[in-house]
Amino acid sequence: TGNRISAQDIRRRKGGVPIVCLTAYTYPIARMLDPHVDLLLVGDSVAMVLHGHVTTLGASLEMMIAHGQAVMRGSTKACVVVDMPAGSYEASAAQAAASARRIVNETGCQAVKLEGGVDMAAQMAAIVTEGIPVMGHIGLQPQSVEKDGGYKIKGRTHENVAALFRDAEAVEKAGAFSVVIEGTVEAVASDLTRHVAIPTIGIGASGDCDGQILVIDDMIGMTVDRVPKFVKEYANLRDTISHAAARYAAEVRSRAFPGPDHVFSATSGKDKA
Ligand code: KIV
Ligand code: NA
Repeated sequence: TGNRISAQDIRRRKGGVPIVCLTAYTYPIARMLDPHVDLLLVGDSVAMVLHGHVTTLGASLEMMIAHGQAVMRGSTKACVVVDMPAGSYEASAAQAAASARRIVNETGCQAVKLEGGVDMAAQMAAIVTEGIPVMGHIGLQPQSVEKDGGYKIKGRTHENVAALFRDAEAVEKAGAFSVVIEGTVEAVASDLTRHVAIPTIGIGASGDCDGQILVIDDMIGMTVDRVPKFVKEYANLRDTISHAAARYAAEVRSRAFPGPDHVFSATSGKDKA
């Protein structure tokens, strides 16, 4: 834990070299990403991406903690942030502080993230008072998708822009060390970045943000459902995995697999698989 990038380290990078963030949910992916990123987010997107729920509302505290533990085991350097799932913090500041405490105690993660601005200021302040670094998340908030009637880009109207500025200010004032800006008009995300003193992490936001984040499965082409416009696919693992499965199936059916290298002879003398 001593060599890990801390939330305070991230906070100090406002306006500097862009902060590289990705989501991670599992031990092997954390192992592969850790050398390359500054921050790993155990996003509640795990509910959709790995568990097949229709929205992030399918995430639970237990689910977030299990994946948070896996990502901590698989990383040594990155600042690990665990999302607070819907239903674990909105009711009160006390509920938010207790849930954040449980996530940190059971995973050892560096920080937690929650969605909201003005409406969640008391929750964020209470978590900070617990001594737990908190990351904000404004703009498009997937936990509010049912309430909002869909995944809608923010910052298209004057009222909406004013609300975004109030949310960004509230997050900063509550003591957050950084804030995710999701699904927001580019120029507005750029203005918000200049307006607050804490680093902004963009996703479907602006290249002017202090850092960027993507959902790991989206950027490696593992997502089987539709991916949003803001995703860039840096690899296509869907096809790699499909081709591997097809070759395996053909080789099993033709008895080409297992070959001599994959079975044990009585005379080889090796007991270890
Ligand atoms: O859950 C998630 O993956 C997130 C990121 C998209 C910011 O919150
Ligand atoms: Na999330």
